[in-house]
Amino acid sequence: QESLPAGYVVRPLARSDNQVRSNSSFLKTLEVLTTVGTISDEAFQRRFQYLKEHSDQYYTIVIEDMNVPPTSAGSATSSSPSLVTPGRGKIVAAGTVLAERKFIHELGMVGHIEDIAVSADQQGKKLGLRIIETLKAIGQQVGCYKVILDCSEKNVPFYEKCGFERKGVEMGWYV
Ligand code: ACO
Repeated sequence: QESLPAGYVVRPLARSDNQVRSNSSFLKTLEVLTTVGTISDEAFQRRFQYLKEHSDQYYTIVIEDMNVPPTSAGSATSSSPSLVTPGRGKIVAAGTVLAERKFIHELGMVGHIEDIAVSADQQGKKLGLRIIETLKAIGQQVGCYKVILDCSEKNVPFYEKCGFERKGVEMGWYV
C-alpha cells in the first residue's frame, strides 16, 4: 500500500470540516468535480447530521494535510471562532462509499463509490489511489459483495490502477 506524504492523514469527515472562510473546507475540495453552490453552515450541518444518523450507509472520508495551517481570515481574531479550529490542517482530498442494502444475494450489500475529489494542486501524489483503497476496504469490512462506480472515459486509467475493471454501461436521466 502506498504511504501518504509526511503529515497527511486519512480520517472520516467531521462536523467541523465546513470551515467556509478558510481554504480548508471540504466543500471547496469538491469543486474539482462540479458546481457545489452556496451552502449555509446550517444546511451543511443538517446534511452532516443526516449522514451521521445513517452512519452504517454513508462513509465519507477526507485526506488532511497537517503541514498547512488553514489561512482563515480569522485564525486569531475571528468574530466567529467556532468556524476555525486552531492547529487543523487543510483538506486536500475526499470520497464516499455508500452501502446499498439489497434483497438479492441473500440481502447482499453493494458499495457505491461517489464524489472522489483531489484538489487540483495535489493531484498526482497518489492521494486519489489512497482514497479509493480506503473506501474499498470499508466496503469490504461492512460486508459489501462488490464495490462499483460510474466515471468518465478520462478517468478509466485511474480506476484501472485502483483495481477496477469496465463493467456494463452507465446511463443517466437528468431532471
Ligand atoms: N490518466 C491516466 N492515469 C492516471 C490518471 C489519468 N487521467 N489519473 C491518475 N492516473 C494514474 C496515476 O498516474 C497513478 O499511476 P501510477 O501509480 O502508475 O503512478 C495512479 O493513476 C494513481 O493516481 P493518483 O496520484 O492517486 O491520482 P490523483 O490523486 O490525481 O486522483 C483523481 C485522481 C481522483 C481522478 C483526481 O485527478 C481528481 O480529483 N480529478 C478531478 C475530479 C474527478 O474527476 N474525480 C473522479 C470522478 S468519478 C467518481 O467520483 C466516481
